[in-house]
Amino acid sequence: MPVDLVLHNAKIYTTKGLATAHIAIDNGKIFKIAKTNLPKSSTKLNLKGNLVLPGLIDSHVHLRDQLLAYKEDFFSGTAAAAAGGVTSVMDMPNNNPITMDSKSLRERMSQAKNRIFVNVAFYSTFPKNTKKPPLVVKEGAIAFKLYLSKKIGDLNINDDESLSHAFEKAMEMNIPFAVHAEDRGMLEQGKEEMKRAGKDDIEAYIKVHSPNAEEKAISRVTRLARRSGAPIHFCHLSSLAGLQALSKARTTSLSITCEVTPHHLLLSSRDLKHHKTCALTDPPLRSRKDTETLWSALKLGSIDTIASDHAPHTIEEKKAESVWDAKPGIPGLETTLPLLLTQVNEKRLTIQELIRLTSEKPATIFHLRDRGHLEEGYRADLAVVDMKQEHKINPSQFFSKAKYSPFDGWKVKGKLLKTFVNGHLAYDDGEMVSKPGTGQIIRCVR
Ligand code: NCD
Ligand code: ZN
Ligand code: ZN
Ligand code: ZN
Repeated sequence: MPVDLVLHNAKIYTTKGLATAHIAIDNGKIFKIAKTNLPKSSTKLNLKGNLVLPGLIDSHVHLRDQLLAYKEDFFSGTAAAAAGGVTSVMDMPNNNPITMDSKSLRERMSQAKNRIFVNVAFYSTFPKNTKKPPLVVKEGAIAFKLYLSKKIGDLNINDDESLSHAFEKAMEMNIPFAVHAEDRGMLEQGKEEMKRAGKDDIEAYIKVHSPNAEEKAISRVTRLARRSGAPIHFCHLSSLAGLQALSKARTTSLSITCEVTPHHLLLSSRDLKHHKTCALTDPPLRSRKDTETLWSALKLGSIDTIASDHAPHTIEEKKAESVWDAKPGIPGLETTLPLLLTQVNEKRLTIQELIRLTSEKPATIFHLRDRGHLEEGYRADLAVVDMKQEHKINPSQFFSKAKYSPFDGWKVKGKLLKTFVNGHLAYDDGEMVSKPGTGQIIRCVR
């Protein structure tokens, strides 16, 4: 029997460096990677020496849909993913309705089912129902999400004991807890003070959403997770103070991982002041010093993943008179890969680091067992890139409904040519070519 597809003349990254190979794909999986003796195939495609990466696994994406479909929906969000070389996304639970129990998760999955171009796994907030294991986990939630900046879901975030208990449960099930680390008390108090003083500009926002608020939340969570040793994943780490709290906690035997976003690596508060609320996000863009520390931590291996925190809003929601009314969040699915490939071309990042941060590590942390590697037996989730092609970031061409970006007009070097999802060509040279529904729902298996 011939295999489904053979990709000829692919450049791949192996432990010995770059090599040319052919990739045979069958049944949605990588069947063989070899230089010679490839099996016969029904279809052949010549990749002309372009680089093949494992498709990106973006562990921080807000696909919205349901009552927030006006911002983004499963169709537009997963098209944006495919157009960004992202073959699996992990969807955050701050939806309307909130993904918080088996019922809301089941409904979300059924809405997504036939409308996704890439694979989607779902976060849930920590459920009230504490059956063992909670029904939301049986339903397939991949991880829990904890917002410390405001209460989203059932968990009482002001109560240490409730958090410790939730971490214990997560530990028992070996389910990671992703955390938005900004201290709610500090944010609320700061905002009230600013409002009372009539301050409603970017500077005020930056002051309130301070590195100290991040540090405080990280210290608290690591203190509370110590009893159980639960796997904690810090989202969008942004500051030197946050990093210090994290390294302190890491000296004990805690199981802690962390992510950074491309915008916190590549932009600073100067860009925020320039782009105004269009570039507003939580946590906000930081000082150059913070940015530089993130880079050194990344180079030292203390950062585990890069995720986009793709957080689409309408342009009207982004622009508001008062900063307190503007919606924080930046769309990132379509900019992550070209921005990072540019960093590779500029020798700030190696290809190995890119693959580790955007595919391998997210797969390991969130237990996506058959994804994230370009190896036989793994899912054929691939991104084909031309490392030399230059272009400009053009948000008007985004597949996302959020057609703006603080990277608007940036010259990038390294272009996505094709994206394969489960062995199917999903995106090819600027266009979506697969049917929605070729992406799969990834469930946690318990
Ligand atoms: C996110 C959103 O819009 O859902 N916004 C953001 O500024 N990052 C929420 C979040 O990730 O904290
Ligand atoms: Zn060949
Ligand atoms: Zn967040
Ligand atoms: Zn987010």
